[in-house]
Amino acid sequence: MSTASFPEGFVWGVSTSAFQIEGATAADGRRPSIWDTFSADRAEACDHYHRYPEDVRLMKDLGMAAYRFSVSWARILPDGRGKPNAAGLDFYDRLLDELGAAGITAYATLYHWDLPQAVEDLGGWPARDTASLFADYAAAVHERLGDRVDTWFTLNEPWVAAFLGYGSGIHAPGRKSAAEAFRSAHHMLLAHGLGVQALRSAGAAKVGTVLNLSPVMTPAQVSDFGRTLSEEDAEAVARIDALVNRQFLEPMLRGAYPAELLPIVERHGGLGHVHDGDLEAIAQPLDLLGVNYYTPLVVQAQPSEPADPAHPGSEGILFCTIPTAVTAMGWPIVPSCLSHLLGRVSREYPDLDLMVTENGADFVDVVTGDGIHDVERISFIEEHLRAVRAAVEDGARVRGYLVWTLLDNLEWADGYQRKFGLVHVDFATQRRRLKDSALWYRDVIRRNGLTETRPKRPTLETVAARSGVSRATVSRVVNGESSVSPEVRAAVMQAVNELGYVPNLAARSLVTRRTNAIALVLSVPRQGGDALTAAVVQYVTSLLEGAGKQITLMLADTAESHRRIVAHLEARLADGVVLLPPDRADTLAERLSRTGVPIVLLGKPAIASLVPYVDVDNAGGAAAATEHLLALGRRRIGMVCGPTDLITVQDRLAGHRAALQRAGLRPHLALAELTRSSGAAATRRLLGDDPSLDAVFAATDQLAIGALQAAREAGKRVPEDLAVVGFDDIDAASATTPGLTTVRVPVADQALALARLLLSRLEGRHTTSVVLPTRLVVRESA
Ligand code: FCB
Repeated sequence: MSTASFPEGFVWGVSTSAFQIEGATAADGRRPSIWDTFSADRAEACDHYHRYPEDVRLMKDLGMAAYRFSVSWARILPDGRGKPNAAGLDFYDRLLDELGAAGITAYATLYHWDLPQAVEDLGGWPARDTASLFADYAAAVHERLGDRVDTWFTLNEPWVAAFLGYGSGIHAPGRKSAAEAFRSAHHMLLAHGLGVQALRSAGAAKVGTVLNLSPVMTPAQVSDFGRTLSEEDAEAVARIDALVNRQFLEPMLRGAYPAELLPIVERHGGLGHVHDGDLEAIAQPLDLLGVNYYTPLVVQAQPSEPADPAHPGSEGILFCTIPTAVTAMGWPIVPSCLSHLLGRVSREYPDLDLMVTENGADFVDVVTGDGIHDVERISFIEEHLRAVRAAVEDGARVRGYLVWTLLDNLEWADGYQRKFGLVHVDFATQRRRLKDSALWYRDVIRRNGLTETRPKRPTLETVAARSGVSRATVSRVVNGESSVSPEVRAAVMQAVNELGYVPNLAARSLVTRRTNAIALVLSVPRQGGDALTAAVVQYVTSLLEGAGKQITLMLADTAESHRRIVAHLEARLADGVVLLPPDRADTLAERLSRTGVPIVLLGKPAIASLVPYVDVDNAGGAAAATEHLLALGRRRIGMVCGPTDLITVQDRLAGHRAALQRAGLRPHLALAELTRSSGAAATRRLLGDDPSLDAVFAATDQLAIGALQAAREAGKRVPEDLAVVGFDDIDAASATTPGLTTVRVPVADQALALARLLLSRLEGRHTTSVVLPTRLVVRESA
């Protein structure tokens, strides 16, 4: 078998970070970091602080050449300043000795997001002094550990730390201010520059930093990267690239901010925090740039789109979901982007060595009697490694690849539910178990490459034939059943090992009676929002497939099909059901749930029941839309209402009514079917009843588009004479003239919630329904 090999000396390893694995948050003088304060989860994490010898041994057994970890600032300088805490440094001292003995090269990150709370209390990253406190900290760590660290990384992903921590507030410390986010970013850059200087003057040989770099593109470019863009889209792409990538690359490597960034920062609190000489201090020569890549950023120009809080300055740009496979995090999987990214950075900075310092994926892992067969994670890493190799062949200076991550861990604001590890951790017992991906990665490291073609997988039959037993017996052995004699078990295991057999779903289900099939039942026809429903279905399919499930699509359109589906479940041909119930009262959900097979619904069912569902906040969205019209001074507001036997319409009507009531107003309704022409007709009726009507809220975008048409025909200017708001934010809503103000429903989040709900039910956990927030998208129509 030939090998797609990597250059000699290519560095293989894994990355971790202190807060995510160490635990022991109060040990040996450590004091809280901003993540201890912010996180809702208990912070024992993987107890790596005590179990590091076992973790280093795991890495050694897997053949890792490199380990990137981070140092917890709050262990070293618990109060942010003063004398370094020797007991905190001792831990890293022990760790480095252990790594040294295992022959593993140490890459140390100094700041992976866990600012001492004491430093936050002094002002945190928006305060300039934090940069010099960081440099002092860097010097203290170097003084004690410098002899055993091969390469120092100053920061990890400063964009995330600044813009999620101080901009959108979804990360610690949870502040929400665009101005503070930009100040934080600048002070992190300054901390980097001062930190590099401190390390160098203490004699550090190799110093670098780690950035999260995301290729930015339009939806069309995902499959056709070279595609030329309209002027507006090209501007949108360049602006996001400046905000996320070049805001950090260019000061560090060129000593200047990107030109298009400065006016944005100017508008958000000004540039007063950028002092003379800062950029010279920031632009220190670097030996290595760490690139963390997970997924691209997909955007397009979208007039009147409000700025995303994590991307201040992104007004008029829409962040798009794209129809690709996604990880359980909902992140689109696009390996080719990693080649583009590495190629681009190498072309722009030809003298710089690069290392992929993080790449990996969250998937739902299933622990079986014979291991954790995380085939999706293997494919993810394999495809990304092929992308790295392609970039290297094109001349990119990529020196190594580190998987994120060694252990399942505490994934920041998402807690313990995320599974990025090559090694499974049972958080109740702290037991570590290698996933198949760990063993697969060990083989990649051993041969310094990928196998050119994937070997044909041996099947259950091959194993049965080789060991001279039946398929059912093989299945029993791989499922760990005790009814098999030791001799037979030994024979089967020998065949399994010799053939390199990875038990597949069929082998497991033969005995466990699990089918691993999920029935996706669609009630058709559904009215309105069809494209959105289709998108949710596509995402949910991808997510469940990612969790190792096979999806069987079943249409519930006739009484006969209902019977067939019920019989299918009664025969246990599926483990679970995702049902898109019909809009109108119907008993299918109840009948299916009586079969005892776990079921989840997309959308609140017409008949109240205990079956859990995922829905969006229709009432809240309608209230927000109505309040927006009221805030614009509109008082004569009509509603183009869809059929009131539809639950969605009922909820939107209720939200509209409640908002009007709070303002002391009464609703004026015109009923319609869910079509544009019906929306136009209903609007004409509203205008007929009240010629001075000044606003229309329509229950869906299709109806709202009809309303725009009726307004035009009646000679009304939108929004001057008549403001119009829709609901759903379908693609067409951005293409109307004027653009339609509407309420966006979160498509990918619905799919994620559905998949999660179902998987929890399959594991027998208690589940409750989920209602996701909607968001008003203001465009010119109102
Ligand atoms: C990166 C972080 C890392 C981990 C992965 C999933 O942004 O650096 O700590 O959270 O994402």
